[in-house]
Amino acid sequence: ARDGVLVVGSINADVTAYSSRLPRPGETFAGESFALGLGGKGANQAVAVAKAGAPAHMVGCVGDDEFARLVTAELRAAGVSLDHVRSVPGHTGIAHIRVAGGENDIVIVAGANDALNDAQLDAAFAALGGTAGVMLTQLETPTATTARAIRLAHDAGMTVILDPAPAPTAPLDDALWPMIDIVKPNETEAALLTGIAVDSPASAAAAGRWLVERGAGAAIVTLAGAGSVLVTTDGVTEHAAMRVDPVDTTAAGDAYAGHLAASISRGLPLEEAMRRASAAGAITVTRRGASASLATGGEVDALLASRVARGG
Ligand code: RIB
Ligand code: NA
Repeated sequence: ARDGVLVVGSINADVTAYSSRLPRPGETFAGESFALGLGGKGANQAVAVAKAGAPAHMVGCVGDDEFARLVTAELRAAGVSLDHVRSVPGHTGIAHIRVAGGENDIVIVAGANDALNDAQLDAAFAALGGTAGVMLTQLETPTATTARAIRLAHDAGMTVILDPAPAPTAPLDDALWPMIDIVKPNETEAALLTGIAVDSPASAAAAGRWLVERGAGAAIVTLAGAGSVLVTTDGVTEHAAMRVDPVDTTAAGDAYAGHLAASISRGLPLEEAMRRASAAGAITVTRRGASASLATGGEVDALLASRVARGG
């Protein structure tokens, strides 16, 4: 049987400053603490897959700088396979992150992530397309390679999951939707993809229907703090969020996507996979950092068991 998740996406070094508030434009402001660690939506999702207990194969690029050593060491320590991570001249992808009061903002400089190319994808799918059951990708690597990864995965009979993050600057090529089994946008991303303003479960359902009408197998539209809406050809269901006090929301979406993909690769039904993904996201916002804040499968089990015990 097929096993594991192929993650095609970005690898960043996250350079994070924590402060009590964000500086005003032009202001220099003393922060409270600092962290340097593995990030990037692709890498975070690969780590989440591995922590969830499924084989995780990363397809991406790093530079030839100090940060390349740091990020590959953290990926390896998490148990992510790096056979299809390529080292290219120049700097590793960088995310400059500021966290203040549980919110964050991020400036990305793509660096090596822009070097992900067709030949690298072709090699990865030739080696693993028949082995891994799920392909998980995002929008933090060049759009043309994202499209190619979706086609190759679909042709290989894999379950294709797209986390359309960060928010796209243009709608996706309509030809891709029928090749995507699950798409998981947040409100902003759903609005940019569909042109429908999303600010409620009803408008999330409308955006989800737009995606499913164009051929996506399932659309999970996440609403900040208000759970998610699942749309398939069978209809619409609403799923409650787990309430937590946010410390650092960085990588919450990645925790969700990674645990969703790992659960699907293990053959769990979609709504059960969503429950696990949502618990993993909730745990991640209670911890600082990106990859370092991701939850294990055991932690997800424990959180879900405690909710059942408390009846909530
Ligand atoms: O989703 C969180 C990630 O977005 C961070 O780790 C940062 O690298 C950016 O890519
Ligand atoms: Na976090």
